[in-house]
Amino acid sequence: MAAKPPGRLPADLENINREILERLLEQTPVSGEALAARLGLSRTAVWKHIRRLKGSGLAIESRPGKGYRLISRPDFLHPALIQRLLTTRILGQTIHTFSEIDSTNSRARELAEQGAGEGTLVAAEHQTRGRGRMDRGWLSPPGENLLFSLLLRPHLPPQQTFSLIMLASVSLCRAVYAETGLEAGIKWPNDIYLKGKKLAGILAEFAADSDRVNHVIIGLGVNVNWFPEKLPPGSQPATSLQQEAGRRISRVNLLASFLNQAEGLYQEAEGQGYGFLRGEWGGLSLVQDRPVRIETGKETWRGIARGIDEQGALIVSLAGGRQKLFHTGDVHLRI
Ligand code: ATP
Ligand code: BTN
Repeated sequence: MAAKPPGRLPADLENINREILERLLEQTPVSGEALAARLGLSRTAVWKHIRRLKGSGLAIESRPGKGYRLISRPDFLHPALIQRLLTTRILGQTIHTFSEIDSTNSRARELAEQGAGEGTLVAAEHQTRGRGRMDRGWLSPPGENLLFSLLLRPHLPPQQTFSLIMLASVSLCRAVYAETGLEAGIKWPNDIYLKGKKLAGILAEFAADSDRVNHVIIGLGVNVNWFPEKLPPGSQPATSLQQEAGRRISRVNLLASFLNQAEGLYQEAEGQGYGFLRGEWGGLSLVQDRPVRIETGKETWRGIARGIDEQGALIVSLAGGRQKLFHTGDVHLRI
């Protein structure tokens, strides 16, 4: 079913009654009486929940004598809507959604520190302090895009956390292809590009002991259904899936697809090692064996990108044949 534009956003996603939503998703009419009996609520309480769901933009038909029926599938980020599409055992088994939050990465970090299980997902319709690398801002209007963070507890030394950016990048490119047929590519170190413009950014933050990662938060901001116009001066040109596909794209489907892809790669990497990811990542890299320009703030370097080392540093062949490593940090790759 095509994604519908969201209506008014739920004031408080957490309080939407999950069981009522799940029952409505079965798409056969259900009476208020049956819902009340099943959930141990009064009919008035059920009616209030239905009113809240309608207020959140869900098209629910109420027919006398028949009951309630959902007549379109919503595209807001409710755990029940996402989880019914998951084939995962770890990723997204716990989902926290918010209509507004400062940053999903910050909330995921708090949850990690409180012992949340791996695979926990935090998603928001809007962020008031969304951030990118080097504390640069991440902008996204309410209800149009994907803003989410995933908590992982991988068996990795701290020097190899770039593997998880690779994992997220590959998963997102695959999910974009599965949901839209569009071929996105990776711009080192943390951007996903589509048709020469920035589609998504990835922000990985981790806590580690000297030899082992304790947890990693992988945050993704994906431009799904807005037309990026008002970005800060100096931003790279940006695009969105709707802009390139010419139709609205379901955020719920894309997020579930991402999680299903990521789970496969994560299970494989945790079982057999993360090495194979470099091949997958290289196949999607937009700069592999191509001329690049790298700006470090003080200097500009030109050469041919040759791939990345174990820690995610970009290997560039400079004129004269010398190779130079560029570490992630405040360096800018231009293609
Ligand atoms: P680089 O300069 O290394 O090419 P970048 O410009 O993508 O990378 P990052 O720090 O990776 O910089 O990403 C954050 C930047 O993304 C912000 O400074 C802003 O310019 C831009 N940005 C913010 N929101 C969006 C968005 N929704 N879509 C695309 N770009 C955005
Ligand atoms: C970048 O391009 O520098 C990375 C942008 C990452 C943005 C996402 S949006 C969800 C998550 N929460 C944040 O505050 N940042 C990431």
